[in-house]
This record gives sequence, structure tokens and C-alpha cells, in this order.
Amino acid sequence: MEIKSVGVVGAGQMGNGIAHVMALAGYDVRLNDVRQESLDKAVDLIGKNLDRQVSREKISQEERDTALARISTTMEIAEVADTDLVIEAATEKEDVKHKIFESILPSLRPNTILTSNTSSISITRLASRTDRPEKFMGFHFMNPVPVMQLVELIRGIATDQETYAACLGVVEKLGKTAASAEDFPAFIVNRILIPMINEACYTLYEGVGNVSSIDTAMKLGANHPMGPLELADFIGLDTCLAIMNVLHDGLADTKYRPCPLMTKYVEAGWLGRKTKRGFYDYR
Ligand code: CAA
Repeated sequence: MEIKSVGVVGAGQMGNGIAHVMALAGYDVRLNDVRQESLDKAVDLIGKNLDRQVSREKISQEERDTALARISTTMEIAEVADTDLVIEAATEKEDVKHKIFESILPSLRPNTILTSNTSSISITRLASRTDRPEKFMGFHFMNPVPVMQLVELIRGIATDQETYAACLGVVEKLGKTAASAEDFPAFIVNRILIPMINEACYTLYEGVGNVSSIDTAMKLGANHPMGPLELADFIGLDTCLAIMNVLHDGLADTKYRPCPLMTKYVEAGWLGRKTKRGFYDYR
């Protein structure tokens, strides 16, 4: 089936990046959020990120303007349902995601593919609460979406081949590369990446190094573009903690125990860049 229009639910960090790359690739995009303020902020940010690409001569001014014009925003979830592909990119909380799918189902076209950008939650479980488990799958982008090459594609137990092929076609049209992952907690990238970040938190918690030495060690010693604590701030400590909990619960292994320091920071509301305070102070 041919995908021409894409509905994106959630206009946060991931949702606005997804809307950006979809519009640039030629899809008509409907971006939805429960708050008008979030939608306005997202469109403003997409404009700025497109400007950045123009200034680095990655895209022309005309491509920028056309892409921005392809994005419409709405607070009505039913308007998002009238598209060929829906990508849910709301917060990493399972009950929120179930509620979004419940609210979108009554207006969804019969053939629309339903996907989630979840970074860790079971695709099979999310799909089982919809009317179309065979047309449901995981469509997981990396942050920052316009820059990162990878999209993880995750098939639930019932996902059919036609749905997988259609999503793979979208990834190719975006000029990105797909990695296919089986539906187990946190899939591939976060199964490996988030325990590394958690271990960096333990390294700090146990006083093996300080924030600066841990990040410098991994940047210069392992050639990572960001140190693990800087990356945790970038991803959001709440998201990192949610993923560790999914790994801990889903795989029932103490090696995935979230570091108490990560839990404490989240309880304090020190979630990283988005709250201007995490392992670093951005105020
Ligand atoms: N939109 C468009 N372009 C952007 C951008 C954005 N939001 N953010 C950065 N860029 C572009 C810049 O314009 C620049 O382009 P050129 O190469 O053409 O110059 C390029 O990206 C590099 O940006 P900067 O020069 O500003 O900064 P940098 O060199 O320090 O790179 C970074 C920034 C790309 C974020 C880099 O630090 C990096 O790769 N960090 C690691 C990111 C990472 O690991 N992401 C995965 C997180 S895990 C995840 O997402 C999964 C999950 O579910 C939690």
C-alpha cells in the first residue's frame, strides 16, 4: 500500500523531529498534541531546525518552505486518524499510549497502519488492545531525528508482511536505514544503550569518577559523540528510568536494576536538558 499522509501523535522532542523528516521527504503531515502551546512550540522548532539545514546547505530554501507547508497541526485526534500511517510519539508511559490508541480507533480508516515510536514497551501488548494487531508495529526513531540515520522497525507477534514492507518503504524514502528488531523489552538500541547509561550513573554514585571525568572518559576513550551522562540529560532521565524499569520488569534480571541516583534525580524533577537541570546545569 502507498503511504502519502502521516499522522504524528505527540509534538514533543521525538514527535516534532518525526514531523520534520516526514514533511521533508514529501509526506503530508498532521501533527497532534493535547496542548496548543506544544504544537506552536513544535512548529517553531521545526522551522529553526530546517533553517539550520538550509544554512549548512543540506536543503534549499524552497525545500524548507515546502516541507513546512506540508505540516498542519490539530488538537483533534480524529483528524490524525484520517491518514495512511499514524505514528504515536507521546510520553513513554504505557497507559497513556493505550488511551491514545483507544481514542483514535473509532475514526481510523480500515487500512491505516498504526505504529508506536515507543523506545521499550511491548509492541504485541500495545497492538493487542487495538482492532488491527496485524497492521500495528514499532517505528522507533533516534534523537535528534533529523540527524540520526537509524530507525528500528519492530514487528509484534501478529504484524503482517505487508505492514512491515510499507514501513520499510517509508524508512527508505526518508533516506534512513532500518534495523529490524524482535519484540523484546527495549528492542536493540535501548537494550544496549540504556544499561550503559545506567552503569555510568552507578559509576558516579559509587564515586569511581565525577560527571566530567566519566563523560570525558567515554568521549575520548570510546569515541562516543557525547558522554553517557550528557546523553542521559539529552534523552531525558525520566525516559532512561522508564526504559530501565521495562528491562528490569520484562527480563526479571537484577542486572537491569535502575541506579538509585537516577531514580532520585527523576523524583527531584531533574530530568536533563528539558528541565534545565540533570547531571549538568543548563540554567
Ligand atoms: N535538526 C537538524 N539538524 C540538526 C539537529 C536538529 N535537531 N541537531 C543537530 N543537527 C545537525 C547540525 O546542524 C550539524 O549538521 P552538519 O553536520 O551539517 O554541520 C550536525 O547535526 C551536528 O550538530 P552540531 O554541530 O550542532 O553538534 P555536534 O557535532 O555536537 O552533534 C549530535 C550533535 C548530533 C547530537 C551528536 O552529539 C550526537 O550524535 N550525539 C549522540 C546522539 C545519540 O546517541 N542519539 C541517540 C539517543 S538514544 C535514542 O534516541 C533512543 C531512545 O529511544 C532513547
